[in-house]
Amino acid sequence: MHNTVTINKEFAIAKDIYWVGKIDEREVPFHRLVLAKGTTYNAYLLKTEKPTIIDTVDMQFGKEFLASLSQLIDPKDIQYIVINHSEPDHSGGLAALAVKAPDATIVCTEPAVEELKEMYKLHKRNFLVVQDGDTLDIGGKTLLFKETPYLHTEETMITYCEEDKILFPCDIFSTHIAAKEFFNDKAPYDITEDFIGYYQAIIHPHRRYVKTLMSALEGLDIQMIAPSHGYIIRNDIPKYIELYRTLSADTVKDKKVTIIYTTIRNNTRKVANILKETFEENDIVADVFNADRSSREDIISSVKEADAVFIGSSTKYADMIGNLEEVLKELKEMNLEGKIAAAFGSYGWSGEAIEVIQDYLLETNMNVQTTSEVIKTTGMTHVEFPVRIRFSPEGKQLKKVEHSAAFVADLLLSAN
Ligand code: FEO
Repeated sequence: MHNTVTINKEFAIAKDIYWVGKIDEREVPFHRLVLAKGTTYNAYLLKTEKPTIIDTVDMQFGKEFLASLSQLIDPKDIQYIVINHSEPDHSGGLAALAVKAPDATIVCTEPAVEELKEMYKLHKRNFLVVQDGDTLDIGGKTLLFKETPYLHTEETMITYCEEDKILFPCDIFSTHIAAKEFFNDKAPYDITEDFIGYYQAIIHPHRRYVKTLMSALEGLDIQMIAPSHGYIIRNDIPKYIELYRTLSADTVKDKKVTIIYTTIRNNTRKVANILKETFEENDIVADVFNADRSSREDIISSVKEADAVFIGSSTKYADMIGNLEEVLKELKEMNLEGKIAAAFGSYGWSGEAIEVIQDYLLETNMNVQTTSEVIKTTGMTHVEFPVRIRFSPEGKQLKKVEHSAAFVADLLLSAN
């Protein structure tokens, strides 16, 4: 195992734009993988009238980052630090940099502000919150910001330098290679396989948000993609963008979901209908049954044909209501292997019924969704199972239902 760390060096990638990152040749542990080819943490200095840093490096290389940056500029002259993505392999250098650049304003999306303040004790710093389509004049260059939420975390954005036509997308379009030659056309071999491997590991679980990315890129003349891991892409740019489009497309059709519920005050029925609408928006047929009003035969027949089953109830006296338990007992005796299952419900106090349903589902041989498994396999924290909705599914609670249904839709529409 290599355990060496290459000393990084400043590198001009365009006029007044310098790579100030870190090449990490170790077999880096990352997202429960080991990066056999190492990686880089690419940060960039735009040495304009208002000097600007775009992203930083992994937390452990903060001092080294500052030392190499100091060869190009006095850090106290830096006016802006753009943070496209809060994860510490890109924002980690902020801890050291913020001290040496006391007047710099940190530029990020709204969800990133609290994360960065908490992670690096930056509560007293100036933040500039940008929204989709905002621009920033940095004195000789103009930065355009596009929000790309959930690709792969909520606060993510990409930055485009209008004058140089360079896209800085952080994790997006990256490769995990300790790229010493910086540019893909200088790589000693074709990087396509590594590019796809990175996509599959980091981006694919969030593939529905690639559509947002593709919309964000529309109309941009991109002459260089300067991501924050691996090679800077200046050759075959359309090919690499198209790979994201094709790799994120649905590959499976004709899926079906059965949604069964009982309800006291119609809130659980509303949740069932939001699930149905979200599935239908994804071209998945969704049958909805009120277990107290539908024939058992119709429900069981629908479950047999379904690829996923959602079961929900309101909570009364710490338990589910109506005929639902009889349905669950019948499902427990069936062979439902290969189907996805999830529990849901609206509740007022503790929502015990949802947990009881979950227990029943875990006694079947279905693939029962849990928050724990979602976090471990994708890192997503906005998708929760069981889907627990307090009172009415509105606002953030409505979004929660949609996110959970969309997650299952993605599982159904993408071949393993
Ligand atoms: Fe390279 Fe999401 O961090």
